[in-house]
Amino acid sequence: MTSHRFGRAAALAVLLAPLAAQAGDASKAISLSASLCASCHGEDGNSAVPLFPKLAGQQAVYLLRELKDYKSGKRTSEVMQPIVSGLSDDDLANLAAFYAAQKPAPGTVTDPSLLSVGKNLYLKGNDANGIPTCESCHEVDGSGGGKFPRVAGQNVEYSLEQFRLYAAGKRTNGARVMKTIAERMTEQETRAVAEYMASMP
Ligand code: HEC
Ligand code: HEC
Repeated sequence: MTSHRFGRAAALAVLLAPLAAQAGDASKAISLSASLCASCHGEDGNSAVPLFPKLAGQQAVYLLRELKDYKSGKRTSEVMQPIVSGLSDDDLANLAAFYAAQKPAPGTVTDPSLLSVGKNLYLKGNDANGIPTCESCHEVDGSGGGKFPRVAGQNVEYSLEQFRLYAAGKRTNGARVMKTIAERMTEQETRAVAEYMASMP
């Protein structure tokens, strides 16, 4: 190996090191998740209780930010804050990596009659009321990416609760766009899009 090539490899390693440190190690979160999280979110992150979010297959970047925001109090939850307050940033990164790597189970649709309205809003938005398409940020298949959360297969009750929190200005740690959207959606659109997200595999 020439010194020139070694130099590039070393520079790359230095550049990538912080990323690797942030990425987390899923294997280090196995016992932590089992003891602290599984009772509500399921062993593999497929929360069975409709009000608890599914974490399986969720974007790691998104998961880590939300966990840090619960810890700092930027995202408020009386349930989540005390649970994560004693965990280190490494623990949070490992937990994020663990849940991102789990296989998401199919969601549960509770009212199939709303699916076509929900699909239309998700893919086309509602120009008249200034609601953008959801797929532009959450992707056509609902898988999200990076800081944009996966919404496919999410529990309907959890999604409805988040729309209520956004509209009431009680979830403000992230993008402002979700508050605007939640305020502008009708009750029927809100229910319909939650059902459609749950229906996405
Ligand atoms: C007592 C039940 C309970 C336990 C135990 C619990 N959670 Fe939660 N979790 C919830 C609830 C309820 C919410 C929704 C809170 C809200 O509205 O912000 C939530 C939200 C979350 C979210 C946000 C998901 C999203 O889509 O935005 C993450 C991430 C999360 N929990 C991870 C964890 C981890 C990791 C643990 C273990 C260290 C854990 N939870 C333990 C009930 C629980
Ligand atoms: C401009 C980008 C953008 C658009 C458009 C958008 N979202 Fe979001 N959405 C986000 C981001 C970023 C988050 C992450 C949390 C936050 O910032 O509050 C989010 C969060 C969410 C959440 C909470 C997920 C969770 O696990 O807690 C739901 C549900 C959601 N969006 C649904 C929708 C729906 C439905 C639409 C279309 C009507 C939509 N979003 C359009 C960017 C967008």
